[in-house]
Amino acid sequence: MTATDRTQSAPPALPEQVVRYVDRSQRSVDGWLSPLDARLVALVSAAQAGWGITGTLGEIGVHHGRLLILMALGLQPGERAFAVDIFGEQELNVDRSGEGDEGKFRANLARFGIPADRVAILQASSLEIRWPDIERQAGARSRLFSIDGGHTAHITANDLAIADAGLLEDGVAVLDDYFNPEFPEVSQGMCQHRLVDGGRLVPFAIGDNKLLLTRPGQGERYRAMLERSVPSRFLVRPTEMFGQPVIVFRTPRRLVHRIRQSELARRLRDHPIGRALKPLIRRLVRE
Ligand SMILES: C[S@@+](CC[C@H](N)C(=O)[O-])C[C@H]1O[C@@H](n2cnc3c(N)ncnc32)[C@H](O)[C@@H]1O
Repeated sequence: MTATDRTQSAPPALPEQVVRYVDRSQRSVDGWLSPLDARLVALVSAAQAGWGITGTLGEIGVHHGRLLILMALGLQPGERAFAVDIFGEQELNVDRSGEGDEGKFRANLARFGIPADRVAILQASSLEIRWPDIERQAGARSRLFSIDGGHTAHITANDLAIADAGLLEDGVAVLDDYFNPEFPEVSQGMCQHRLVDGGRLVPFAIGDNKLLLTRPGQGERYRAMLERSVPSRFLVRPTEMFGQPVIVFRTPRRLVHRIRQSELARRLRDHPIGRALKPLIRRLVRE
């Protein structure tokens, strides 16, 4: 194995401040982000940096900046982040998802030592902007783009189209709430993007509440990187979605999940004894 092979197969090194934020300090910022989802995003960002992918990182729908700060902590020299939110114009927040506050967002950036000039802030509804408006301020196309603004089907499809236009060919978009039954229109918006609008973003990984997307043919190395970097207790299984291979991770919150996602259960599933015991086990640990 050459030194390059070793670097490509080792989990990407997360900067210490990123690890601290993922495991602990993100909780001090109001918002919605599980430690597992934070880790998935941090790993993607660090892997991109290791692979020489450079560009802007940012989000539509920042609230107080919980995820945006994580992205900004991973900025490489010369890169800038972007943040799009309606902030004070909450009358435009049609589905009442979160409540952006520019003052609290700026204070949180400062608290985590992120210089104000490293983040382009656009106060606007995403329905009123197109990708070039963001690029003019952020200075480059995007390597990592989170979509967590309005949660209607129309806004979701609109925001996916902005991400599709701005993302580098091997960049990653992160869609919030796709599987959240409280926001079924997010799923509808993603289906519209892929099946009606001819959008080019396809899934490659699923976390607690994030769907990770890239262009067809680009998911393999991200999937492989996550599989070797995320502790196996979070791994549910590889499967397919929109005709693309995806890997599913989930925080095992209940005993039944812990058992199902254990190494022993994985081995038993592929063994004749495990297959024979399956009906009994299902009766015992029915959710
Ligand atoms: C669920 S919160 C975002 C949470 C955030 N990503 C975090 O890390 O905690 C949704 C945000 O989207 C903003 N928003 C709602 N509709 C929007 C729109 N049409 N354009 C831009 N932002 C919007 C809201 O103001 C709110 O801050």
